Amino acid sequence: MCIEVLGAPVMKKLHIRAASMADLDTFFKWANLPEIRENSFHPKLIEFDEHVKWFTEKINDEKTIILIGSYGNQLIGQVRFEEKNQATFEIDIHIDSEFKGQGYGKSILSNSIQFIQENFIGHFQVFAQIFVTNTASIKTFKSCGFIENSSFEINSIECIEMIYKT
Ligand SMILES: CC(C)(COP(=O)(O)OP(=O)(O)OC[C@H]1O[C@@H](n2cnc3c(N)ncnc32)[C@H](O)[C@@H]1OP(=O)(O)O)[C@@H](O)C(=O)NCCC(=O)NCCS
Repeated sequence: MCIEVLGAPVMKKLHIRAASMADLDTFFKWANLPEIRENSFHPKLIEFDEHVKWFTEKINDEKTIILIGSYGNQLIGQVRFEEKNQATFEIDIHIDSEFKGQGYGKSILSNSIQFIQENFIGHFQVFAQIFVTNTASIKTFKSCGFIENSSFEINSIECIEMIYKT
C-alpha cells in the first residue's frame, strides 16, 4: 500500500506492510529507545533473548498484526494490533526518534487502520491505553478520530483509554 504523507514537510510515498522475522533487529533497536520505554507499562530495558522470544511469538500469533511504515529503504515506525476480544484490538504505535514530530505518527496510524480494513477485517474497534502525560500520543490518536473512553490508574500512573470504531 502506498500513500502520500500529507502531514510531512516534504511529500513522500509512505509504504505500509506486515512485519516479518526479517525485522527482528529493527524492532529490538526501537524497543529500547528511551522515549518508548518511558511511555511503556514495562519501563525496564529489554534483553535481546527476551526480545527474540517475544517477537517470534507475536509474528506467529494469529491474533496479532504488526505493520511497518516506511519510505524507500527507511523504516519510520510500527503499529501493532492485538485482538483482545472479537473484532476489538488494542493498538501500540511508535515512530523512530529520527522521524518524530513530522506528521508520520498520524499518517502511519490512519493508514494502518485502513490497511487492516482492506486486508483483514472491515469493521472493528481499536483502543489505546496512554499515559496522560504522553501529549504527543494523545494528540496523534485524537487527530485520527479516536475519542476518550475512560480514565484509570495502572501502578499509580494516570492513563486514559481512547477508542475508534471503523
Ligand atoms: C506518539 C508518537 C507515535 C507520535 O508520532 P509523531 O510522528 O511524533 O507525531 P506527529 O508528528 O504525527 O504529530 C501528531 C500530533 O502530536 C503532536 N506532537 C508531536 N510531538 C509532540 C510533542 N513532543 N509534544 C506535544 N505534541 C506533539 C503534533 O503537534 C500533532 O498534533 P496535531 O494533530 O494536533 O497537529 C511518537 O511520538 C512516538 O513514537 N512516541 C514514543 C512511543 C509512544 O509514546 N507511543 C504511544 C504509546 S500509547
